[in-house]
Amino acid sequence: MISHEMIDKAARLISGCKRVTALSGAGVSAESGISTYRDAGGLWDRYPEGSSGGILAVMTNHPEDAPQILMGFLEGIKKAKPNPGHRALVDLEEMGYLRAVITQNVDNLHREAGSSQVFEMHGNLYRLRCLKCNKKEIMGREPYFKMLEELINKMTRFSLEEIASNLPSCSCGGSARPDAVAFGEPVQDLPEAMAEAKACDLMLILGTSGVVYPAASLPGVAQSGGAKLIEINPQQSALTGRCDLFLEGKTGEILPRIVSSLREIQGKNIIPPES
Ligand code: OAD
Repeated sequence: MISHEMIDKAARLISGCKRVTALSGAGVSAESGISTYRDAGGLWDRYPEGSSGGILAVMTNHPEDAPQILMGFLEGIKKAKPNPGHRALVDLEEMGYLRAVITQNVDNLHREAGSSQVFEMHGNLYRLRCLKCNKKEIMGREPYFKMLEELINKMTRFSLEEIASNLPSCSCGGSARPDAVAFGEPVQDLPEAMAEAKACDLMLILGTSGVVYPAASLPGVAQSGGAKLIEINPQQSALTGRCDLFLEGKTGEILPRIVSSLREIQGKNIIPPES
């Protein structure tokens, strides 16, 4: 387990900052039961073509298994609830330190936990986007999974045409698709994410392998603007080398400890940042 000294060091770094931004990846949702992509047993570990082509490449290469693969992918997300890592980020926001969460996750868990400023670079699985009029609409968890499961249950093998013809309809008459970014599509919220990276004085790099761009370039942007970088991950990532502090472990365990340590520091009357 990571030492109290390391937690204290992270808390002291944060306590001296006014504008902290978090960059999160799949590891933050791992303790909510959602599998990461590249860890052992993750989707891209089992289907390596996914790391360069995403879920569509996996389904195209395994058309017969596609319904099972999709159901498996959705299963974890369907049951997931925010974990102590997500909630600690809300605490950091309420304490006046954290300004924004930039996430690569599509699972909506940062919003569900209560973070108010969330930039979702890879979109949000619960949002539908009309392919005709571009209207975006967030769906509730239950109707969303019911709709997807009905769609998948109709599939015997992967066929893009079949998926396209069964998508839900928008009020304009067009078809609406889940608004998660597929490989090759532009990322979302990029101007906002870049602005946060440039303006922050500390970036928390949480549960990401740091190999998917442009998200992986944001710590460099933050650092060029003078920000400190703290990473939390059970393993070193592609970004560890540039970090000021690396805390080896799970975000769901370490972030709440940092929050407690910050509360202690505040209790000792070290002046909190201005809101
Ligand atoms: P990865 O699967 O590449 O990396 C997950 C990271 O989380 C690894 O570095 C793990 O060591 C770490 N990790 C695992 N459990 C953790 C825990 N409990 N606490 C903290 N860290 C933990 O996932 P991402 O970096 O998010 O894109 O992947 C980036 C993008 O690649 C995804 O958004 C997805 C994928 O292809 C698209 O699908 C467009």
